[in-house]
Amino acid sequence: MDKIIIEGGKPLKGEVKISGSKNATLPVLAATLLTDETIILRNVPKLVDTNTMIKLLKALGKDIEWDKDKLIIMSSGKISPVADYKMVSTMRGSICVLGPLLTKLGEAKVSLPGGCVIGVRPVDLHIKGIEALGAKVDIEAGYISAKAKRLKGARVYLGGASGPSVLGTANIMMAATLADGETIIECAACEPEIEDLANFLNEMGARIKGQGGPRIVIQGVKKLHGADYKISPDRIEGGTFVLLAAMARSNFLIRDIDYSQLMALDDVLAKVGVQVEADKHCVRVKPARIIKPMSITTYPYPGFPTDLQAQYMALMTMANGVSVIRDTVFPDRFMHIAELNRLGAHIRRESGSAIIEGGKELSGAPVTASDLRASAALVMAGLVAKGKTEIRRVYHLDRGYENIDKKLIALGASIRREKE
Ligand code: EPZ
Repeated sequence: MDKIIIEGGKPLKGEVKISGSKNATLPVLAATLLTDETIILRNVPKLVDTNTMIKLLKALGKDIEWDKDKLIIMSSGKISPVADYKMVSTMRGSICVLGPLLTKLGEAKVSLPGGCVIGVRPVDLHIKGIEALGAKVDIEAGYISAKAKRLKGARVYLGGASGPSVLGTANIMMAATLADGETIIECAACEPEIEDLANFLNEMGARIKGQGGPRIVIQGVKKLHGADYKISPDRIEGGTFVLLAAMARSNFLIRDIDYSQLMALDDVLAKVGVQVEADKHCVRVKPARIIKPMSITTYPYPGFPTDLQAQYMALMTMANGVSVIRDTVFPDRFMHIAELNRLGAHIRRESGSAIIEGGKELSGAPVTASDLRASAALVMAGLVAKGKTEIRRVYHLDRGYENIDKKLIALGASIRREKE
């Protein structure tokens, strides 16, 4: 495992380019199982999670190679319906091969993904969706085994106790592309990554409408063909750098960002006292002398994203007052509290919320990353803390942020990577 060492307090300037979206790339890669023709994907981020999905697709029978910055996906023959435990357990996002395998092959055997530090991560909505399309589903020995001669279009409500499911919507939308007849997904996830996936599927010849809204309508087709598609910029990486700029009081340029996808963040930042100047593909944050405390609750899109909750908590440690954070999507996604406190923050948990007493200056210390977005919060805090911060287990960071240390060094940060 690697560790990252940061000397905090360096001014950040220059510009950073946001990479392609991890959470669009994973379902788009899974969707390549829906055709035997060649697919070219551009702006694919070179991440640990991308490589994990590529490994899984190769194990299922796809031929995949990088051609400079393009990813070429071809079929070399028979596709296996089995996604085994060791592949799926390393990355929950692998669950989104279930819908494509089932609708293309008539069968799928995908390991239950198991939980992770941010929550239990159930898949009941995925199963409800494929059963609604006519699949026979058995759960045996830790696997979801699904069979269906040909899926049949249906109307299905995919809302759960915590609202819509992003990958649940992705799975059912992909399964419905080759089903017989019309499928209507009610309470669909509205995340931009679902829109990206639907736009890619339509490039392949699917007939999908309503993506980005709570009702998605899919007319099944007989076959999907190859496509050449560019992945959109990563909404969460973009939001992470906007929050870093606010924290470091720096106005470096953030390029390749669609800021219209971050309106919940923009709304909160305006109340915190941070102005963001945005044009079509770039933003600059105007440094704020005083950062005001602002409590937030995360919600499914277009609410404040749970994937920016840890990073926002890091910013609130600098606010001149007390703020409260509640996460309705992953109520226990607070592993970063203990580590931020090691850097001098004053945060406590109280009946399901986090209470942040801002204004204490952060000072460097050794900390340990626990999950992807918590790691980003620790890097942000380390960049503004006095002295040296050492972050262990940065594997988590590499899962979702492409070359983040190189990007930060280019902005003037003092950051280096070492073997643990
Ligand atoms: C996606 O996970 C993202 N991952 C997560 O990002 C993100 O935090 C999450 O959506 C919410 O926005 C990818 O896209 C690869 P969900 P997903 O199904 O689809 C409950 C990151 O940091 N639920 O939308 O797995 C679930 O427990 C990662 O990039 C059910 O109840 O999340 C949660 O409370 C972390 N039953 C809520 O729904 C189900 O069948 C939202 O989960 C499925 C989910």
